[in-house]
Amino acid sequence: MIPAALAAALAGARRVVVLTGAGVSAESGIPTFRDALTGLWARFDPLELATPAAFARNPKLVWDWYAERRAAVLAAMPNAGHVALATIERRVPGFLLATQNVDGLHARAGSRAVVELHGSILRVRCSRDGEVVARWDDPIAADEPPRCPRCGAFLRPDVVWFDEMLPAEAIARAEDAARACDLMIVAGTSAEVYPAAALPHHAKAAGAMLVEVNPHATALTPLADFVLRERSGVAIPALVAAAWPGRPHGGGAGSSGRDDGGGAK
Ligand code: APR
Repeated sequence: MIPAALAAALAGARRVVVLTGAGVSAESGIPTFRDALTGLWARFDPLELATPAAFARNPKLVWDWYAERRAAVLAAMPNAGHVALATIERRVPGFLLATQNVDGLHARAGSRAVVELHGSILRVRCSRDGEVVARWDDPIAADEPPRCPRCGAFLRPDVVWFDEMLPAEAIARAEDAARACDLMIVAGTSAEVYPAAALPHHAKAAGAMLVEVNPHATALTPLADFVLRERSGVAIPALVAAAWPGRPHGGGAGSSGRDDGGGAK
């Protein structure tokens, strides 16, 4: 499945950037957004659940929906694709993983250099000052989300909703890395949501090799140098095995040391 030229390029890469989307967590049982029928947006209206206006209209509905998703994420486990990406991080000198996913599964798989472009469903913040809140009391009124212990405003998930800006530092770091990388892997994203979907274009314009990992064609396919038309839980471990034959991979969750024979990270 893995062209020799691609395996050689990864093994020799100095700076690698990976952009991931919901498809990378699909094999962990987390639904994607736009896959027909199974995707969240095929079953729920994003305008009713994932915008500031929706939260203003019905904060309880939005809070409960994210609480349900958070429970599913906490019950899920990283899959072989997540683990293989953590292995790549340990084997290339320069690495950044920019994810659109809010599930925290990359970190649980051992990835360290991770930028969360769309925030995290595992964090909660005050809807007035935006500060993350670690502990909160259960809501007083049953038809309300919990309130900020500091100011009393409603709490909300620390994710980026439609019509909202991405965290400035996160997108700036991802854009800089995209413009400086020599290889970018784009896995499990429909590449339809900007500004994250612009990152592969920045990398390509700067001369990087572009690799798409996705069982389906996307808006990005025409731009890719290599396409692995396969699920990421299959394709990325195969890519690691081809790039570094004979070396065990998948140090598994928590193994954060480099395994290029050099000192610890
Ligand atoms: N492995 C790799 N890719 C997969 C897999 C898999 N096992 N299963 C599905 N895919 C692909 C689909 O073919 C699709 O192209 O993953 C992609 C998922 O696309 P979306 O559902 O659009 O998710 P994503 O690109 O992450 O969405 C971007 O949109 O809704 C917002 O904020 C949300 O971060 C999200 C953003």
